[in-house]
Amino acid sequence: MCVIPRVLGVYPEIRLLPHLDTSPFPAPSADELAHSAELADLIRADIRAHGSIPFWHFMELALYAPGLGYYSAGKTKFGVSGDFITAPELGSLFARCVARATAPVMRAGPEAEFIEVGGGSGAFAAAALAEWERLGCLPQRYRILDRSAELRARQRATLEAKLPHLLDRIDWPDTPPEQPWRGVLFANEVIDALPVHRFVMRDHEPRELHIGLNGDGQFVELEREADTMLTAAVAALQQDLLAPLPEGYRSEILPQLPWWIDAVCGQLEAGLAVFVDYGYPRREYYLPERDDGTLICHYHHRAHGDALRWPGLQDITSFVDFTALALAGTHARLPLAGFNAQASFLIAAGILDLVEEATHLSEIERYRLAQEVKRLTLPGEMGERFKLMTFARGIDHMPEPFTSYDQSRRL
Ligand SMILES: C[S@@+](CC[C@H](N)C(=O)[O-])C[C@H]1O[C@@H](n2cnc3c(N)ncnc32)[C@H](O)[C@@H]1O
Repeated sequence: MCVIPRVLGVYPEIRLLPHLDTSPFPAPSADELAHSAELADLIRADIRAHGSIPFWHFMELALYAPGLGYYSAGKTKFGVSGDFITAPELGSLFARCVARATAPVMRAGPEAEFIEVGGGSGAFAAAALAEWERLGCLPQRYRILDRSAELRARQRATLEAKLPHLLDRIDWPDTPPEQPWRGVLFANEVIDALPVHRFVMRDHEPRELHIGLNGDGQFVELEREADTMLTAAVAALQQDLLAPLPEGYRSEILPQLPWWIDAVCGQLEAGLAVFVDYGYPRREYYLPERDDGTLICHYHHRAHGDALRWPGLQDITSFVDFTALALAGTHARLPLAGFNAQASFLIAAGILDLVEEATHLSEIERYRLAQEVKRLTLPGEMGERFKLMTFARGIDHMPEPFTSYDQSRRL
């Protein structure tokens, strides 16, 4: 069965709906098409070797195949000239608020580290480090964990250009810490980029969605028997929802999330682990009417649902089940400390004070700052759609912005 592209308008929840371009898709250049064809050939070879591959494996290759995947190759990705905009790419306010809110943890001891998972263009690191420097509480080490070599190089170039005097505190480890450490682990829009398992309910059981090839060598969607891990994850999900998912219901799930969280922050001895993303508590995520999941692709600020189109040229993402994230934290023995909307966090962290204090800026620059505040905090923009989930271990005082207007009871 072919994936029927969903079109704009079907997504009340897309990343930045008011700013999406509704004009026709710009055609990729000849070079881009050649790049995508090379990646598609690599995926086809994998499919031919196995008959079909699970969707998560297709997504893994489309995003992260070395040198060819969307995140591994040289596409612009972030910002106006890319495919989507993230909070740190709008300006420095988001990162400065995170730096201010985590300053008490940075001050708690000389060994405090900040680990950023998924560093994007390096914009977040540059703005956060500059803020801590102003506040006199730089972390001893700033570590960026990013699986994309291309982005690691881009982050280094950004930091070399903006903060050359701080480079000796920054590193790019290949693996998460294997020894106990103290400080803050932070990830903005990373969980939404983890490859998801897609499933469809048949006779009360999940079947796994695979990608195969039709007679013309084009990618097609297939249904295959679900493995034990997926079957168990969907069974646990239905138990938690207190109702079976309806026949034909399609969605996605991250059965590996507990192990991923444990691997990334299991060694945190004292401090915070903060995850920012778009998503819902489980009961809202798996609503009966959301019967085709939350998978979305971004290409030049257009959103659509055809994940099989132009591998390597578009982002593929899905919303986060925050209940699953909270359970994954429990699995890693990380106590849940807060679950709040991005707007609540930013306001408690002093975003409005940052604007007030910017008296040295010109009228135009202050106007730009006001626009940035709106994009980050308004409910119809990123303010409510994006949430922070914070885990805390071994700290005496929880910084207030992470618990402001806590919504944990919705999980
Ligand atoms: C949507 S981008 C967000 C980038 C940045 N945090 C921002 O907000 O602009 C996702 C980032 O996560 C990285 N990433 C995805 N999966 C990862 C993983 N398992 N470990 C580390 N980084 C990962 C990608 O390479 C990319 O830098």
